[in-house]
Amino acid sequence: MPIRYDETNRIFQIDTATSSYVMQVWNGFLLHLYWGAPLGGGDHAYMLRHRGRASFSPAGPGSSPWSMDAAPFEYPTSGTGDMRAPALEMLYADGSRATELTYAGHEIIMGKPEIPGLPHTNCERPEDAGTLVVTLEDTVKKLEVKLFYTVFEGYGAVVRSALLTNRSSEPMAVLKCLSASIDYDCGDYDEIHLHGSWARERHLERARVTHGIKLLESRRGASSHALNPFFALVAPDAGEQRGEAYGFALLYSGNFAASVELDQYASTRAMTGISPWCFSWGLKPGESFQSPEAALVFSSEGLGGMSHGFHRLFRDRLCRSPWQSKPRPVVVNNWEATYFDFDEAKLVSLAKKAKQLGIELLVMDDGWFARRNDDTTSLGDWFENREKLPGGLKQLAEKVKACGTGFGVWFEPEMVSPDSELYRAHPDWCLHIDGRRRTLGRNQLLLDMSRPDVCDYLIETLSGILEKAPIDYVKWDFNRNLTEVHSALLPKEGQGEAYHRFMLGTYRVLDTLTKRFPQVLFEGCSGGGGRFDAGMLYYTPQIWTSDDTDGVERVKIQYGTSLAYPLTAMSAHVSVTPNHQTGRATPFSFRGLAAMTGAFGYELDLEKLSEEDCAEVSEQTANFRRWQSLLSEGRLYRLRSPFEGNEGAWMVVSEDGKKALVSYFCFEARPNAPLDRLRLTGLHAEALYRSEEGDEFTGAQLMNFGLHLPETKGEYTSAAWYLRTK
Ligand code: GLA
Repeated sequence: MPIRYDETNRIFQIDTATSSYVMQVWNGFLLHLYWGAPLGGGDHAYMLRHRGRASFSPAGPGSSPWSMDAAPFEYPTSGTGDMRAPALEMLYADGSRATELTYAGHEIIMGKPEIPGLPHTNCERPEDAGTLVVTLEDTVKKLEVKLFYTVFEGYGAVVRSALLTNRSSEPMAVLKCLSASIDYDCGDYDEIHLHGSWARERHLERARVTHGIKLLESRRGASSHALNPFFALVAPDAGEQRGEAYGFALLYSGNFAASVELDQYASTRAMTGISPWCFSWGLKPGESFQSPEAALVFSSEGLGGMSHGFHRLFRDRLCRSPWQSKPRPVVVNNWEATYFDFDEAKLVSLAKKAKQLGIELLVMDDGWFARRNDDTTSLGDWFENREKLPGGLKQLAEKVKACGTGFGVWFEPEMVSPDSELYRAHPDWCLHIDGRRRTLGRNQLLLDMSRPDVCDYLIETLSGILEKAPIDYVKWDFNRNLTEVHSALLPKEGQGEAYHRFMLGTYRVLDTLTKRFPQVLFEGCSGGGGRFDAGMLYYTPQIWTSDDTDGVERVKIQYGTSLAYPLTAMSAHVSVTPNHQTGRATPFSFRGLAAMTGAFGYELDLEKLSEEDCAEVSEQTANFRRWQSLLSEGRLYRLRSPFEGNEGAWMVVSEDGKKALVSYFCFEARPNAPLDRLRLTGLHAEALYRSEEGDEFTGAQLMNFGLHLPETKGEYTSAAWYLRTK
């Protein structure tokens, strides 16, 4: 069991494949001692340094001078001396808000307890994981806090969550309950996060942590395009392959808050969890509240090592769909091919063409139901538009399958159009506040997913469709953010629960459907990557990465996304040129190579492609099939950052180091450029690698001298090298 307790010094040590995590019970408080490279054995008691602090920092209890404001708390609270941002804030029946948590006990268990209702990491066999549960309590208010720390055998992550229980005889309310907090007693850090917008998701930003609080937050009711619920703290000299990197990823798809605070003593506090904005949760006597999980990965092998830790965890220990480990089909999606203008005949002829070109599944996107011929109507009316699909979904699915491809369908379950039968029948089923405007986004309203009746209705409606027609794939979209968040079924004092209950309802629907239809490959989507997070990846093994299908933009978006999320999670399609989002014209090969390092597919009218492009599709699908297992199981190394220059490059190396695929992209032409070389990594120095073109290199040559980069002729050059040991 990689979790130890030193009884004498009351020290906990959690060891992962790449890190140790150490805490100590001191003076009744649970303090954080260390998180970093593996420590092995040793007595860690010397690590804790109590600081009495001059000036205004309040003293802690006990005779020796020490300051609550400088102590490294494992789960910080407020109101009793720690003036930094807390992980937990409560409101008690007497109106007071101060909480002080002291150690009450602990247990170390095999395996990992389930977290009902929330996405969570999991282990099939108890011996695959160990969990430390430390119980803290506020002895005055009888609040119990259980902190969970799970570590999976052979993985580099510590997965944390907090469970609060009201053990008193009076009600209380949770105002803030974060999933994880780390206090670093010293050290300089850079903070890295992923920001963006619709069609420009997850661009990487890095800056030195300075005094004050940096807050990354979503108040949109979804994890959002704007900021992703992942961030990292890294040593200032840390790069892709070297240096200390601490990654934090929240398994949650709604409002989140991640913060980094550098305090007056130059200690750093990093936290993540559900945003406290507009949040409160009532706890009657005996009731509990559980935070979502946060996955924490440390690596001393830089950002690359940290990403690898997340990729392995999310690939193996998150999504339970059988599709998680199966090769995903190459798809063609009709959205950019036809938008709303299609019918059965068009889809069937697309499927025929798709089959000829090596594509395995046709996805019918938005516009197949009710009167949905543009985006002003019909969301919620999940019955076929008989003008477009005269024989309904069943007949279409059968015809598509007769062409030899699978069949997928688009849904946007959490939404309703004001112009729909559903809305007319149930105007109170949407999020709304009486007397206020019902704010539209993309002409639509949100169903109130905090209502059990709405969720039950969706489960039954979608189940009916999935039972009726042989559907292999579902694209689950979510095309606006939340407003007028107020639930008709919650009492006024319970409205602070509405955002989180919305997510819990969504998760229940997803959970039921993905379990009921395990054979269906579910793809998440939210106007592209507006809900690209580890919460959604628990239910859907892949997510449409961005509505931006421009090759150059995708190099950036996928590069940024790869910081936390594995390639298998990133749905990526080749679309036409000039690109519909940016108007940019890039070569077919460039777009293909960018899309191939993801859940690969096309998003164009195959019947309008030139013969030359068709030949290229056939070649790309054939290549993808040869490379697919390497791409989905191998280790990703980012080689050149598109955020730092004119190029992007990455490579994927098989776990045994015997195969590698290198992808290189150059954006603008560089006349008379230097004779540049791309140095590889992660190979066996002595092994002899052979490229598809028959060139041979030793691993040492590739890693130290590198590959000659092509000369750029015109804009948007790309190159791929598939290398195998002889
Ligand atoms: C969203 C998705 C797109 C497409 C449209 C359909 O924007 O991200 O891929 O499905 O909706 O309306």
